[in-house]
Amino acid sequence: MTTSPDVFQKIVSHTKEHGFIFQSSELYDGLGAVYDYGPLGVLMKNNLRELWWTSMVRLQDNIVGLDAAILMHPQVWKASGHIDAFNDPLIDNKDSKKRYRADVLIEEFIEKLEQKSQKETDKKATKEGWSVDSDEYQRFLKGNRDAKKAQETQEKFSVAMENNDMVALKSLIEECGITCPESGTRNWTDVRQFNLMFKAQLGALAEESTDIYLRPETAQGIFVNFLNVQKSSRMKVPFGIAQTGKAFRNEIIARQFIFRMREFEQMEMQYFVKPGTQQQWYAYWKSERLKWHATLGLGVGKIRTHVHEKLAHYADAAEDLQFQFPFGFKELEGIHSRTDFDLKQHQELSGRKLQYFDPEENASYLPYVVETSIGLDRLFLAHLCDAFTEENVPSGNGSEETRTVLKLHPLVAPVKVAIFPLVKKDGLPEIAQNLLNDLKYNFQVTYDEKDAVGRRYRRQDAKGTPFGITIDYDTLKDEAVTIRDRDSMLQTRVPLVQVKDWITKSLSLQSYFKESK
Ligand code: GAP
Repeated sequence: MTTSPDVFQKIVSHTKEHGFIFQSSELYDGLGAVYDYGPLGVLMKNNLRELWWTSMVRLQDNIVGLDAAILMHPQVWKASGHIDAFNDPLIDNKDSKKRYRADVLIEEFIEKLEQKSQKETDKKATKEGWSVDSDEYQRFLKGNRDAKKAQETQEKFSVAMENNDMVALKSLIEECGITCPESGTRNWTDVRQFNLMFKAQLGALAEESTDIYLRPETAQGIFVNFLNVQKSSRMKVPFGIAQTGKAFRNEIIARQFIFRMREFEQMEMQYFVKPGTQQQWYAYWKSERLKWHATLGLGVGKIRTHVHEKLAHYADAAEDLQFQFPFGFKELEGIHSRTDFDLKQHQELSGRKLQYFDPEENASYLPYVVETSIGLDRLFLAHLCDAFTEENVPSGNGSEETRTVLKLHPLVAPVKVAIFPLVKKDGLPEIAQNLLNDLKYNFQVTYDEKDAVGRRYRRQDAKGTPFGITIDYDTLKDEAVTIRDRDSMLQTRVPLVQVKDWITKSLSLQSYFKESK
């Protein structure tokens, strides 16, 4: 994957052109940070959700599923701390009237300093002949002026965030001389806390209505159902509850396409463990999730881990799995050790016991929770960015041409197989249609008989279809077809009767997931 803002723009345009993603309500100039998934997008999103569900629920013997409602009793959000503490610090520039997240402005400032320090170090290393792992290199990298300033700013920033100190955040922005990217001025308002939950009214009459909230995370549906699930499914600690579903956050800055949305989908798993064992399970789930991403092609070098500077109000340890998006390494998934915070809070506010009776210990306790939480849309974006490739390939006439191809993992790709009769006559379309009718019960298949076959290949490359099957004149004689691999463009001759088995093997969940165990 190439990392540059230009490439990101190309990816965004590509998703629209090929029907992956559209801006919501585009007809009315769009709704900020809300997106619709088109015909290919919905297929790919379903695949990712299904792959997550399979590995989290179907392949596990102690994790069960749940589908809780989006709307919940308002007390849930009081107990969870979201009403009081689910805030972002925002700041306005008085000249441009643009609103920013104060923490993001500072983080970006630190990142720029780090990049400058890295550049300067590389320049010096080339001049002095230092290798990257030499002491001189590392000393210069940490000790130059920009690196020191980055470190100092980071320390002040961490303290301000830790103490929820809005005045200190504003001072730091002023001290660093951070300017508004739009107006270029430093004419800032004070920093204010802004709650991210969307409010709605329950009830027909305004005077009788109650404020309710669109859930900002799916996790609370799991916590309030903890005992229902444990008892009805006779689960024993440690066990997990998994859920996928929509979540809503009134994000202040809506940038970077589907990276930060106001309506998005989460895939979360809460793993209930005996108190005192949470560190062990935290390490286990972090490793499992890294393996899962690697199985689907997002392996070493593409994902790194990042320990949280400021812990969320519910966590005693938290780490992000960050993916290298074209705009830098950013959070893809969170692994959180949430202690018994949520269960304890719900127990207290509801006045109902949520304790679990452990038959092996002959004791009751509130389990601790280790959570894995990933945004489906963000995972979608990571796969798209990783797959988007522009490369020079030989063209039919011996010269070179550029092709745009989505090198998506075959299990993630929206359409698995494209079937092409070489020509629209002489019985080839009939054979192609018969094959399509045979394969469509097992796989998402498409049919294309328009234009030269080379152009049809290119169209499917752009959609990420891993296999193209051509029915040609030889098929009439040898009852075999050509299967073209999207990435290598190599062609294999396969007997018609073996095509289904060939595709089944190539898309075998078992072979991919067993190998990663
Ligand atoms: N239950 C824990 C929780 O919600 P989080 O770190 O706030 O933790 C988890 O969110 C994941 O949800 C993130 O890692 C990200 O993938 C996704 N996510 C969060 N906010 C999002 C947004 N505004 N748009 C898209 N995805 C988002």
